[in-house]
Amino acid sequence: MSLSLRLAFEDGTEREIAGLPWQTVFQAAQAHGIELATDCREGACATCKARCTEGEYDVGDASPEALTAEEEAAGLVLTCQMLPLGDCTLRFPYPFSLTGGAMSMQAVLEAVERVAEDTVRFELALDAELPFLPGQYARIGVPGTEAERAFSFSRRDRAEFHARLLPDGLMSNYLAARAKPGDRLDLSGPYGGFFLREPARPVLMVAGGTGLAPILAMLEALDGRQPAAVLFGAASEERLFALDRLAASGAKVSIAVEEPGGNPCYQAGFVTGLIDPPASDIDAYVCGPPAMIEAARARLRAAGIAEERIHCERFLPT
Ligand SMILES: Cc1cc2nc3c(=O)[nH]c(=O)nc-3n(C[C@H](O)[C@H](O)[C@H](O)COP(=O)(O)OP(=O)(O)OC[C@H]3O[C@@H](n4cnc5c(N)ncnc54)[C@H](O)[C@@H]3O)c2cc1C
Ligand code: FES
Repeated sequence: MSLSLRLAFEDGTEREIAGLPWQTVFQAAQAHGIELATDCREGACATCKARCTEGEYDVGDASPEALTAEEEAAGLVLTCQMLPLGDCTLRFPYPFSLTGGAMSMQAVLEAVERVAEDTVRFELALDAELPFLPGQYARIGVPGTEAERAFSFSRRDRAEFHARLLPDGLMSNYLAARAKPGDRLDLSGPYGGFFLREPARPVLMVAGGTGLAPILAMLEALDGRQPAAVLFGAASEERLFALDRLAASGAKVSIAVEEPGGNPCYQAGFVTGLIDPPASDIDAYVCGPPAMIEAARARLRAAGIAEERIHCERFLPT
């Protein structure tokens, strides 16, 4: 006996497919040639998140970081884990055109430079064209290992990335000590449903640390078409980066540092402390560590922003 699944995408496209009991939504869609946005496929990264608006289901094996209890109660699901138990309708926060799947290729490291105490900017020349939306990310192989890590594009049309250097991190150690122009790396993408929507109202962007990377790509693509405000937070002044790009973007920029270093332009504390109720309806884009995302979402909702206008990317360990 098969179940009927209605897949509704952000651009209004709908597809009706049949699924088997104990088959995930992702597997059912793939069997019908629809490659839903996924990454880990283990319930850990949240890339495949969607909303189930009708039908009974089992959420499957979702990590509490990727799908919080509150999100689960609100009908959000991880489609790589969700097992429909009856006919279901799912709404995806991205257009049908994103269901083409990721491409794999090789790339050459063109530039690598330290831009803050714990942040490296690097740029790759790709062996093939890779269309992506501003805000999406790639998976990049760590040279000399089998491991790969997720990094968000920080330009709208170039393979530039900003990586936080973590103590004894695999990619961090490569970027800090061994990376040199000419190195060859494996890359696949694009991934993710965090991307700039057609700007129909003012935009608020909230970034923690290297969570600023996809925000920079989005700001470039926004290109002043709507008023934008950027709230950027870091642990200390030495960890701030890309301030020249933020200043040149035309956005209203506010900065918070957890340990103030004496610059009176920066507010002391967490970036979420900069969120005030907006004067008008806005679209919000939030990117950074999971705890910061949850705090920002709670403040944005308390400020009256509808859940569907709050777009988030959690930088979970990859
Ligand atoms: C969608 C998405 C987009 C992302 N985009 C970006 C981005 O643009 N920029 C960015 O900086 N990050 C981004 N991240 C996070 C990034 O993918 C990596 O998780 C992060 O950079 C870790 O890289 P690493 O290889 O240096 O560290 P890892 O090797 O993964 O190690 C991470 C930390 O864990 C510790 N650790 C590792 N193994 C162990 C162990 N066995 N026991 C205890 N501790 C351990 C290490 O000491 C280190 O501090 C993104 C994540 C996601 C999910
Ligand atoms: S792809 Fe579903 S949680 Fe990662």
